[in-house]
Amino acid sequence: MSATKKPKRVAIIGTGYVGMACCIGFAEFGHQIVGYDILPERVRALQAGITPYREAGIGESLLTHLLNGRVSFVDDLPSAVSAADFIIVAVGTPSHADGSADITAVENVVTALTQMELHGATVVIRSTVPPGTSEWIADALRGNAHVVFAPEFLREGSAVHDFLNPDRVVVGAESRAIGMRYGDLFEHLSKPVLVMSLRNAELAKGMSNAFLAMKISFANEVANLCDDLDADALDVLEAVGYDKRIGRMFLQPGIGFGGPCFEKDLKSLISVSKSANADSHMLSATLHVNDRQPLRIVRTLIEEMGGSIDGARIGVWGLAFKAGTDDVRDSLALRIVEELASQGAEVVAYDPAIDGSAINLPCTFAGSALEAAEADALLVLTEWPQFRAVDAWALARRLRQKVVVDGRNILDIDAMSAAGIRYRGVGRRRTAESVEFAEAG
Ligand SMILES: NC(=O)c1ccc[n+]([C@@H]2O[C@H](COP(=O)([O-])OP(=O)(O)OC[C@H]3O[C@@H](n4cnc5c(N)ncnc54)[C@H](O)[C@@H]3O)[C@@H](O)[C@H]2O)c1
Repeated sequence: MSATKKPKRVAIIGTGYVGMACCIGFAEFGHQIVGYDILPERVRALQAGITPYREAGIGESLLTHLLNGRVSFVDDLPSAVSAADFIIVAVGTPSHADGSADITAVENVVTALTQMELHGATVVIRSTVPPGTSEWIADALRGNAHVVFAPEFLREGSAVHDFLNPDRVVVGAESRAIGMRYGDLFEHLSKPVLVMSLRNAELAKGMSNAFLAMKISFANEVANLCDDLDADALDVLEAVGYDKRIGRMFLQPGIGFGGPCFEKDLKSLISVSKSANADSHMLSATLHVNDRQPLRIVRTLIEEMGGSIDGARIGVWGLAFKAGTDDVRDSLALRIVEELASQGAEVVAYDPAIDGSAINLPCTFAGSALEAAEADALLVLTEWPQFRAVDAWALARRLRQKVVVDGRNILDIDAMSAAGIRYRGVGRRRTAESVEFAEAG
């Protein structure tokens, strides 16, 4: 923040992944933060410096800003917002059973805000909401507060880093002047600030997630074809992705996308398209490919196990939807564990960030990666770097049938082959012979 600018008072409503990134991020910018959450136990934990989720560096940053007095937490909404310049709304927006977005939590916050004197503060909607929602909020708060919709693009596992280093800041508002009240908070970052209508900003958020999800489904479709044609998808996608018009990120095949955003945001956009009588073929195809991908991984395992896993003990590495987080919301690893159990397998799982007693799954939990590998076969479902570091020979000694299906393509094919492991990745149907051929050729 420039020396001439006064720190702003920022209230954060909802202290989950996005809310906490805002708390720490705006404190790093030098502003004064008050966080509020509807869960009193979450507020008490935060006051004691305990974060609601695990992510590298976030605990230390929270303690720093609690101690320097820039961040505090309260358990009532009126005292959080009473003197705020900005009121950030970062509550959850899950899916209804029909796929449409459930914005009840946002509505509850807005309804409560209509009962309070906000002194012309700027209410910033950071929850992902369907197009039209922010216009309704602006109407509800007219005369009391200004409203902007500022979507968050962070990735779990690097939430605070992403908040502090955005590619762009998107701000939806009824006028440029209102939008720039929020946009100016990011001025010192010298990143593009894109001010647009509320509805356009809502769509920009949804479509960004849809495009990223589409790239993942595309990579998985390429991988599945490569599997069938005895080709290597990693070579193919590397060549495709080096084209600057395409880009290499999100082109890695695997078990499919999980997590709290892509699937729900796609379903919400499909529901919005349906209501508008618009086509959503690409959105639907993206979801369709993703729904089938976990079953493909299980099928690969069954193939390698001679046609059945009934009675087999299967080790699973990773339950979180991605490395670097303990979030299992909509994690495809959980769906795969359930599928393995339904096919009669005895599953033993290990994830370095997850305490098994906290989730309800048809499996037992191991205390280490090698303990989980005391099994007939192993499935790799989260790309934790520590899995890559496990010695292939140590793995081979534990695996009774020496089968590894690597749903994240993180293990070293050559090391696996050398240790006598039958290895299958996703779109990586290379044998030891074909590796030799590639190197000799
Ligand atoms: N998690 C992500 O990676 C991510 C990224 C970008 C956008 N988003 C979007 O941001 C929003 C928040 O996501 P999240 O992952 O941080 O959710 P979350 O579930 O981790 O956190 C939501 C928090 O809001 C609190 N809450 C619910 N109702 C409340 C109320 N009435 N008053 C105060 N607090 C309330 C909950 O107790 C919880 O702590 C969602 O719309 C999501 O789609 C999430």
